[in-house]
Amino acid sequence: MRFDVFTLFPQAFDWYLSQVHVRHAVELGHEFRLTNYRDHTPLSHLQVDDTPYGGGAGMVLRIDVVCAALEAVFATDAAQVRESCRVVELTPKGRQLDDALAADLAGGDVVLLCGRYEGMDERVTHLVTDRVSIGPYVLTGGEVAAMAVLDAVARKLPGVISNPESVVAESHSAELEGGGEYPQYTRPADFRGWAVPDVLLGGNHGEIERWRAQHVQKR
Ligand code: 6GU
Repeated sequence: MRFDVFTLFPQAFDWYLSQVHVRHAVELGHEFRLTNYRDHTPLSHLQVDDTPYGGGAGMVLRIDVVCAALEAVFATDAAQVRESCRVVELTPKGRQLDDALAADLAGGDVVLLCGRYEGMDERVTHLVTDRVSIGPYVLTGGEVAAMAVLDAVARKLPGVISNPESVVAESHSAELEGGGEYPQYTRPADFRGWAVPDVLLGGNHGEIERWRAQHVQKR
């Protein structure tokens, strides 16, 4: 699949895109593309935002700028991009990201539109299929949220996580009915008197399975 991220701060993604599971995804044929709205603005002085109609604090990302960037990348009318892929606006007003939405987004190409300042012109609704938030708090921009979406979606792609069992048995997935995972321990078996449960140190896999089933941590 292809991820297209539109942002005013593409350098914010440098660290994330250098991570090993992203490199795995690229080796498997998936694509991560970053576009800076500013590189495609039709306005003079590289302008991308403007004061809100009706007054108020802050600046709003202009809809003509968002459209120009989409059209430069997709070579089609901006409102038609959503006919061939999911177009997601990152906004605290959106539907909260969960594991089911991440799995759903992994089914095709995804465009992520990051806002900045006080957000985006509301007419972005004509361009998007989804409005997504990562939780009930406000961030200064969509970039951190976009990375959360990229990460949650990319790890659903077959082969991106080397041990697929960890994807199936992970926290919050449907297999655990929204419950958590069982507790995990590693060496040392005893540290400052904090001991690992004995059952995990023995080799009885039946007992270990039972212990884990009993200790699944519910949210
Ligand atoms: Cl997607 N954007 C912003 N600016 N704040 C958020 C968010 C998104 N999700 C939670 N808070």
